[in-house]
Amino acid sequence: SRVVKLAVIPGDGIGPEVVAEAEKVLDTVTAEAGVRFEKTRFSLGAARFLETGDTLTDDDLASIAQHDAILLGAVGGMPGDPRLKDANIERGLLLKLRFALDHYVNLRPSRLYPGVPGPLANPGDVDFVVVREGTEGPYVGNGGSIRTGTPHEVANETSVNTAYGIERVVRFAFTQAQARRKKLTLVHKTNVLVHAGGMWKRIVDEVASEHPEVAVDYLHVDAATIFLVTNPGRFDVIVTDNLFGDILTDLAGAVTGGIGLAASGNINPDGAFPSMFEPVHGSAPDIAGQQIADPTAAILSVALLLDHLGLGDAAARVTRAAREDIESRDGSTRTTAQVGDAITARLRA
Ligand code: NAD
Ligand code: IPM
Ligand code: MN
Repeated sequence: SRVVKLAVIPGDGIGPEVVAEAEKVLDTVTAEAGVRFEKTRFSLGAARFLETGDTLTDDDLASIAQHDAILLGAVGGMPGDPRLKDANIERGLLLKLRFALDHYVNLRPSRLYPGVPGPLANPGDVDFVVVREGTEGPYVGNGGSIRTGTPHEVANETSVNTAYGIERVVRFAFTQAQARRKKLTLVHKTNVLVHAGGMWKRIVDEVASEHPEVAVDYLHVDAATIFLVTNPGRFDVIVTDNLFGDILTDLAGAVTGGIGLAASGNINPDGAFPSMFEPVHGSAPDIAGQQIADPTAAILSVALLLDHLGLGDAAARVTRAAREDIESRDGSTRTTAQVGDAITARLRA
């Protein structure tokens, strides 16, 4: 039978708690699908740094790159923890993985299931996907500061945008739109960020001409946040840059039942490198260790992982089990493990 080599990075805070539930689901569904997942566990994150001083060694990276896919919980300590100042877990670990493994598509679906409580009074049908660029923009670390600590300090953080990088993610977004409701919205800030925004707009227009069936529109990012709250049903596929996509997808999570439900895939569509699946949320140090984190986002990330590996039936089963669980929630409190067990039980049913 088929063997899939999976790297598992539980990470920090609630990461290990939600990954444990995601693995329950993965183990159950893959046993039934006749696929064997050979897992390697990597101890990475703030805890590892505090113990050893390592963030992500070249050996770690080389070893992870040998796998077929990666499942990650969350990494990072308490924001502002002085002991982690030199670790830079976010850049040195998470972003290093995304960049080194060329995860140029950060795919973040948002779906509001019927009856799920959210902050919106009349949300309508909400089912969209954000295609967030994953390897460029202000995330590349092209910057620096001079005269540090003086009143004349200057800090620059340059957004890097390449025609190559934009075109490949835009093409991916059009392919998504083509397979969905055939609507694509570019979100940027072309009225201020004229250079990068202008190039994004131009490339979207060019690729659009190859997809006459797809209706294309454009929103400035500030207006996009309005519509995500007042009319989220207007969106099908959103394509946007790395930073705007980061911000929009936390908002999207919040309006579709909470950040505990929001899944994501960091995808290398060419298949040259393993793709990495993780909840949109972070390590949530405020609730870590209490077994109260919602593992659904991690479980739905397993569905994205299975889909990516071509195991569409298994993916659909996971999504259905999670969806049924979400729709049956009555507001009573369950532990992280109880939610994982309930979704696993629905898979077996
Ligand atoms: P966060 O997403 O960790 O938490 C924001 C809020 O959402 C908190 O109140 C938290 O309790 C809540 N929350 C998050 N996930 C939840 C879940 N599954 N169930 C219930 N509630 C949940 O964001 P933050 O506080 O800004 O960041 C904490 C740390 O995580 C930082 O070090 C940050 O850099 C890191 N981070 C990592 C990732 C990642 O690994 N992919 C993503 C985001 C943030
Ligand atoms: C996310 C996170 C990361 C990001 C951070 C932790 C680097 O917020 O996955 O959304 O900004 O991409
Ligand atoms: Mn984020």
